[in-house]
Amino acid sequence: IQRIGVLTSGGDAPGMNAAVRAVVRTALSKNIEVYGVYDGYRGLYQNKIEQLKRHDVSDMINRGGTFLGSARFPEFKEVETREKAIENLKQHDIQALVVIGGDGSYMGAKKLTEMGYPCIGLPGTIDNDIAGTDYTIGFHTALNTVLDAIDRLRDTCSSHNRISIVEIMGRHCGDLTMMAAIGGGAEFTVIPEKEFNQAELVDSICKDVKSGKKHAIIAITEHTTDVNKLANEIEAATGLSTRATILGHTQRGGAPVAFDRIMASQMGAYAVELLIKGEGGRCVGIQSNTLVHHDIIDAIENMPRPFKQDIYDLTKTLA
Ligand code: F6P
Repeated sequence: IQRIGVLTSGGDAPGMNAAVRAVVRTALSKNIEVYGVYDGYRGLYQNKIEQLKRHDVSDMINRGGTFLGSARFPEFKEVETREKAIENLKQHDIQALVVIGGDGSYMGAKKLTEMGYPCIGLPGTIDNDIAGTDYTIGFHTALNTVLDAIDRLRDTCSSHNRISIVEIMGRHCGDLTMMAAIGGGAEFTVIPEKEFNQAELVDSICKDVKSGKKHAIIAITEHTTDVNKLANEIEAATGLSTRATILGHTQRGGAPVAFDRIMASQMGAYAVELLIKGEGGRCVGIQSNTLVHHDIIDAIENMPRPFKQDIYDLTKTLA
């Protein structure tokens, strides 16, 4: 293999730059040229492709976001769009593509692979919702960001005898919420994997307040309910002042923590090694502290992502 491409796609995640840097530096060390595709699949379709040299990834290891840019590009579902993308890659003599992103990005990589164009997927998302890996690039950084926010909210809500609702990202996955609930000592945890019963939640909070609780933190995954309305309901039922904080996109930014930098570097290097061995259509993960790779089609179609029941139980035991 003489020439590969790399792109970042979907929601950005801290550590994506470290992964791109590892792809570039590993490939160059094996005399393989690397081309960066700017703005994800949209840029691939628009032919925004440029060669990356060693210095293009200097000072990138510590930077949040992705210098290649990213985009959500639903049009990539259309076969004509993908045909154009493959044509652009072939025009640059790029023989394989490394895609760093979340589940939508994996789907694009899977579709390109099915059309005969070899891709390697690297899990890049703060949501930790990708099959075939214990952790995704960006998850630990986002987790620290959420913990920092919860610590701050705890300070003020204990000073004011308040209840604090913290809305956390994760899309359909409660990992970020559960882990943050444990690390931040939240009293209540609401995640998409478990049915949400608002009346039951309000009832439990009322019981706690009656038995003397003066403040509490409720960690809740986005898209569950309107957290401002929930705050009003809790305030009316308990008589305790209640505030909701939506952490939003602050969770996506910031310098990657050590774990994300190192894992992203390992995964980026591993992707290139796989391509050198002639492996295409794979997705890279880390499972039980070991780098692994799986068939990307199989990972998307058949691989379950087991729910972390033990972690959920711990949020309850420690609350
Ligand atoms: O997938 C990452 C993520 O941050 C999710 O947690 C969130 O639901 C979504 O992206 C937000 O997407 P956007 O940045 O397009 O609003």
